[in-house]
Amino acid sequence: MSKNTIKLLLSLLLLTSIPFYVSAFPTGAGTCNVEEMANGDHGPSSLKEPTGYRLSADMPTKGNFELTAVGPGDGFKGILVYVLNAKNERIGEFTNLPATMQLKSDCKGSTVTHKTKDNKNFPFKLNWKAPQGTSGNLTIKSLIVKDFKNWARLEDIEFDPVTGASSVSPDTNEVTAGQPSKSSKPFVEKYVLFIVMIAITTLLYIVGSVIEALLKRQQVKSRSFAKTVGGFGNAK
Ligand SMILES: *[C@@H]1O[C@H](CO)[C@@H](O)[C@H](O)[C@H]1NC(C)=O
Repeated sequence: MSKNTIKLLLSLLLLTSIPFYVSAFPTGAGTCNVEEMANGDHGPSSLKEPTGYRLSADMPTKGNFELTAVGPGDGFKGILVYVLNAKNERIGEFTNLPATMQLKSDCKGSTVTHKTKDNKNFPFKLNWKAPQGTSGNLTIKSLIVKDFKNWARLEDIEFDPVTGASSVSPDTNEVTAGQPSKSSKPFVEKYVLFIVMIAITTLLYIVGSVIEALLKRQQVKSRSFAKTVGGFGNAK
């Protein structure tokens, strides 16, 4: 293959790979509300219930909560978490945010989402601090995005910010659920993109070779034509 053909193939390969990288919301959730996820770009989730993803809340010290997400596989890409009071206002403060997380600034009140779509490992923890003097039960709303088409809305957690009592608390079963899966499925999923790229490259290579062969034949034909016409045999 000529250098030009290879250059052309490489640029085509680059172009075809771009959609794979812009198709997800790589820099945070596209919505502020877990209820609106299905109406957005992701559309309805392909995950079957029960999804196995779960968020729980625990109060290690007064007013300070530890939220723990667990689930199947070795982790997730995206997340959206916030805490509502009875008036549906987002309250409290997420503290010690992991480097992979950020506050979603376009939502009214404290809302956490991911910064990049890199894998985040289970069990995944967030710290949340209740506002001073708050009373009455609060609700934690959350969802997890495994990948673009596979996301799960997690069960709402109702909790008492004073006593720490919570409708979903951590238990030992969750720890098992959070262990990295030994099945081959995540492996296959990880390399799907790679396999697709190889397939595209091979296809482009074949198409390129065929076109090149056709062009060469055309060139030979026109040369011999030039020869028969006379005198122009050396012209390129
Ligand atoms: C507040 O939430 C806790 C934990 O889910 C529950 O046990 C309690 O009954 C709730 N209190 C009220 C007043 O709803």
